[in-house]
Amino acid sequence: MTTAQTVLFHVSDTHFGVEDCAAMEWFTAAVHAERPDAVICTGDLTQRATHRQYDQARKWFAELGVPVMLQPGNHDMPYYNLWERFARPYARFGALETAVGSELALAHAVVVPFDTNVPAQLRWPWSDGVVTRPRLDAALARLRELAGDPRIKLVACHHPLLAAHDGRRNPTIRGDIAVAELAAAGADAVLSGHIHQPFDMIRSRGNCMMRMIGAGTLSTRLRGAAPSYNVLRIGADGTIGLERRDFRGA
Ligand SMILES: [Fe+2]
Repeated sequence: MTTAQTVLFHVSDTHFGVEDCAAMEWFTAAVHAERPDAVICTGDLTQRATHRQYDQARKWFAELGVPVMLQPGNHDMPYYNLWERFARPYARFGALETAVGSELALAHAVVVPFDTNVPAQLRWPWSDGVVTRPRLDAALARLRELAGDPRIKLVACHHPLLAAHDGRRNPTIRGDIAVAELAAAGADAVLSGHIHQPFDMIRSRGNCMMRMIGAGTLSTRLRGAAPSYNVLRIGADGTIGLERRDFRGA
């Protein structure tokens, strides 16, 4: 029997190492109580990609007890070991390594991964997002394969693809191109993290409109917003209901 709704908890930037333990427990309790169809984390699972922080992240995500999709963030590549950062940027967290490039298929939604991290770039900071042609082409190809699929198509990446407001410099290189091409290929919304501030907006590029949804953080690295996560309720009719939940303290 098909369920009426797909419920997806969207969390981001857990930053194990500087996590907010009370906010983490608050999120875990909600997952255990409500049993969403899946949890997605849009990157920065760890603060410095150490083995210890990855162990913490692996344990925490496993104990949620529901399907989990993990996208990497710029903090998830080795910080101190440059050889490993370039050669095997996602090798430290085996579950993450196998999750990179794997999609989440739910009753009413498909989540297509899209990696916007680079180990280094010709500008500072290296933490900002870069859209590369091969990765964008891979996401576009997957969206085109899903063209006849009635489910909502979500794209998950770490960096917001656009600046907060039109007219501002976009910190994600070629993000504007990605929005136009992903929307034209049938993406309904993009899920992201990175800025530690939640948002939900409709943006347009290239005569296409698309919803851009950002999750905040569950870490102590707050940037003007409380720890939070998003609850997406996706209906069989193609609607995406969004509830933002802010942590008000233990
Ligand atoms: Fe972050």
